[in-house]
Amino acid sequence: MTAIDSFTLQNGTNMPKVGLGVYKMNDDQEVINAVLSALDLGYRHIDTASFYENEKGVGDALKRSKVEREDIFVTTKVWNDEQGYEETLDAFERSMEKLQLDYLDLYLIHWPVPGKYTETWKALEKLYRDGRVKAIGVCNFMEHHLDELMNTAEIKPMVNQVELHPRIYQKELMEYCKEHKIQVEAWAPIGRGKYFDAPVLKKLSDKYGKSPAQIILRWHLEHDVVVIPKSSNKSRQEENADLFDFELKAEEVEEINALHTGERIGKHPDEFDYEA
Ligand SMILES: NC(=O)c1ccc[n+]([C@@H]2O[C@H](COP(=O)([O-])OP(=O)(O)OC[C@H]3O[C@@H](n4cnc5c(N)ncnc54)[C@H](OP(=O)(O)O)[C@@H]3O)[C@@H](O)[C@H]2O)c1
Repeated sequence: MTAIDSFTLQNGTNMPKVGLGVYKMNDDQEVINAVLSALDLGYRHIDTASFYENEKGVGDALKRSKVEREDIFVTTKVWNDEQGYEETLDAFERSMEKLQLDYLDLYLIHWPVPGKYTETWKALEKLYRDGRVKAIGVCNFMEHHLDELMNTAEIKPMVNQVELHPRIYQKELMEYCKEHKIQVEAWAPIGRGKYFDAPVLKKLSDKYGKSPAQIILRWHLEHDVVVIPKSSNKSRQEENADLFDFELKAEEVEEINALHTGERIGKHPDEFDYEA
């Protein structure tokens, strides 16, 4: 596997272009094994969240690994019912205790909870200024959420992690983020494997000798998007990071863009049930 490159965030922090997502991995042997195998393969970026209830397992794996702490980019997120200024500061400490870390690389607001996220952001700004976290950002923010946040923010979000795959190619949002130097990161980057049978993916897969998952992940990279495919399986982890020995042509990127239907796996951020 060739080495994984990084993007540089607006504050100079390097963020590896490929990370391991750990959603739905149990907080025990499954997440420990998955993180250890990914680190062994050369991954240096792990994406968890307090909502996934596996931060302790991620922390155990990081402790057990021989890879140096400063060489690994670790993300976690503040969940919806933890938002608000003081609440977020407390949630951060709980996450850090489970992760067993003394600093974090990226702290994200998990969803734009109406009436809460501007206060939550102030807590993230404090954690950033205090040196507890190297970069701060958001998830699932649309243009109007980012507009509202940046009206009062003193520090701009550095990352926006959103649902992105060929069925939901969020072109305008990606352009907005590029204009504001916000790094876009794709969750469900391979659409949980649901769309691999599209003929264009088969065609490009045959042409490059790469799997449909690799073609989709390379498509994200051509758009300067960070990807965090989840896999508990070592050979699929290897496949998902083996993306740096080929490139898609501009017209091939366009062909994949055209698979967009707007179909989402998760909720639309304006339709999420924030009371649940
Ligand atoms: N911010 C948010 O709101 C949000 C929401 C959802 C997810 N996320 C983050 O994004 C990460 C990735 O998203 P996701 O887990 O929802 O979906 P995903 O990465 O698109 O897909 C994961 C699924 O695809 C399978 N898979 C992985 N690699 C494969 C390959 N090469 N070929 C065929 N199947 C493959 C996995 O199974 P195996 O494990 O068996 O390989 C798993 O079932 C999450 O783990 C989480 O960290 C964030």
